[in-house]
Amino acid sequence: MALELHVLAYYEQGEEDGRLRAGVNRLEFWRTQDVLRRALPPAPSRVLDVGGASGVHAEWLAADGHEVEVIDPVPLHVKQAGRLPGVTARPGDARDLPYGDGSYDVVLMLGPLYHLPERADRVQALAEARRVARPGGLVAAATISRYAGLHDGLRTARYFEREVRALKDEVLATGHLRPTGDVDLFTDAYFHDPDEIPAEFAEAGLADAVRYGLEGTAWLMVDMDAHLDDPERRALVLEALRAVETAPTLLGGSEATWGSSPPDSVRGDPHQPGGWEVPPPAEGWGRASADHGTRLTGGTRLTRFVRLGV
Ligand SMILES: C[S@@+](CC[C@H](N)C(=O)[O-])C[C@H]1O[C@@H](n2cnc3c(N)ncnc32)[C@H](O)[C@@H]1O
Repeated sequence: MALELHVLAYYEQGEEDGRLRAGVNRLEFWRTQDVLRRALPPAPSRVLDVGGASGVHAEWLAADGHEVEVIDPVPLHVKQAGRLPGVTARPGDARDLPYGDGSYDVVLMLGPLYHLPERADRVQALAEARRVARPGGLVAAATISRYAGLHDGLRTARYFEREVRALKDEVLATGHLRPTGDVDLFTDAYFHDPDEIPAEFAEAGLADAVRYGLEGTAWLMVDMDAHLDDPERRALVLEALRAVETAPTLLGGSEATWGSSPPDSVRGDPHQPGGWEVPPPAEGWGRASADHGTRLTGGTRLTRFVRLGV
């Protein structure tokens, strides 16, 4: 199963490793940590990070004490992730995972669904995640919202460029982004309507998933980068997003949206003072030096956590 050549060429540019480490995309990183740390089983657990790229999440998961394997079709990513302490990496495709049934406590799929425009392929990838997760384990997958590209275009005023507008309008109509060589907009990708997700998950044997908005509409904030640099403001943003993360009416607007396992598996309560803690940024992740966000701000990500065989 081959990765589409444009997608391979896009990731071989090597920008994925820095994408979440600086700029506005730190919000995606911290919110990913926040949601995952509440949903993961206690360390050490066996985590398979499908489409884990250079290991940006694998790195902190391993530091938290989990055993992490990254599988990714991009050779550069496999090389980068495989150098990280406590992380193993191998090439492979989400639709055909080379692991036995039930071999992982947690399967993450935070990226492959963006690049599988055919519904049958997405369902197959999710079914593979379900198969290799143990009964009672956790599957988390991310999608990008169909509506975020429009909002990003309006925010950046790129929507007024004719070619960009045509591409974004096609995404609204079909979900499929097919950038031409002339337009610098991410790469071939599929953007979900949040309402498509439950049926795709259910068809893959992952019923009753809960959708979580990962970044709410905070990604549209003016000066987000500067606010994230301020620890108090960052904590307030993360707290606010946690409080609204499951509001269904916000799912289409959030830049990054997540799903969750059933509520009893989520530790902490955003409605209780001190009921949860905002995770600290990873060491060395200081002030933003660059904004890698604009190329990927196609929109909302939706991630769903599913606990199997509760
Ligand atoms: C936007 S990156 C996300 C990386 C990381 N998981 C994160 O959350 O930041 C998407 C990743 O999915 C990978 N990918 C694309 N198609 C895939 C497929 N069919 N199977 C597995 N991984 C795939 C890409 O190589 C890339 O590393």
